[in-house]
Amino acid sequence: MNYRKARLKVESIKRALTDEHHMDALMKSETEAAKRPIRTDIINFLLESTGVKETTYLEIGVRNPAHNFDKIRATRKYSVDPGVEFRENPVDFKLTSDEFFEQLRTGKVLTKDTRFDLVFVDGLHLADQTERDIRHALEFLAPGGYVVLHDCNPPTESHAREDYMYRASPALDFWSGTTWKGFFKYRKDPQVFACCVDSDWGVGIISQTVDLGPVSTVENPFYEYHVLNQFRKESLNLVSFEELKGRVIRQ
Ligand SMILES: C[S@@+](CC[C@H](N)C(=O)[O-])C[C@H]1O[C@@H](n2cnc3c(N)ncnc32)[C@H](O)[C@@H]1O
Repeated sequence: MNYRKARLKVESIKRALTDEHHMDALMKSETEAAKRPIRTDIINFLLESTGVKETTYLEIGVRNPAHNFDKIRATRKYSVDPGVEFRENPVDFKLTSDEFFEQLRTGKVLTKDTRFDLVFVDGLHLADQTERDIRHALEFLAPGGYVVLHDCNPPTESHAREDYMYRASPALDFWSGTTWKGFFKYRKDPQVFACCVDSDWGVGIISQTVDLGPVSTVENPFYEYHVLNQFRKESLNLVSFEELKGRVIRQ
């Protein structure tokens, strides 16, 4: 590295240490990581709330199953992951979600009439993939079932960046991607109910039958982050876990 490049690097590190966006993202990451409950508790609650005796669970994007998949209480559990992030990749189907749903549709994996009581969408965190994963999950959902999504509530614009590899951003290694956009699309869809538990980076929940709240009236045709930030609660229908329980149990 020549002198000029080295000096620029030092300058950029020095700036990051005092930059308000870096400080803000750091504090918000810490706050978010400390929130409870985590996705696992919310998923287990929803599965139990269905009242179904023998439940079927699908997880799209698993990484290390010890972190969530292994702790899910369901009668039958299926896991899908192409193995991008975790070399061992001990899953049932080493496929992308698109490949899995295509093979499910044609009966090449499981059976065409398989229906899931809960599908946890936590694969590729980009808007178009999230939207497709939700659409396909709804297609194979059992009556009264849920689609659950991780990372729907990015605390800053850097967390909501498109490129995970841009780790010099103020959010550093933390990444919610553009999942929120896929979820927000369904927040505007009158065919479903959707809310987001304000914990563990935003746990989005979609149901075709359980009234989780009214559709969003927030206008954000270009899916701009600043609009999400200004109307965060209304955009995502942010609720506490206690509020979610109230909505689910009362029905
Ligand atoms: C955030 S991790 C999943 C974390 C896990 N669900 C948990 O709760 O601990 C995202 C995973 O999605 C996987 N992934 C990436 N692209 C995918 C795709 N197109 N379809 C399915 N999974 C994908 C990655 O390999 C990675 O293991």
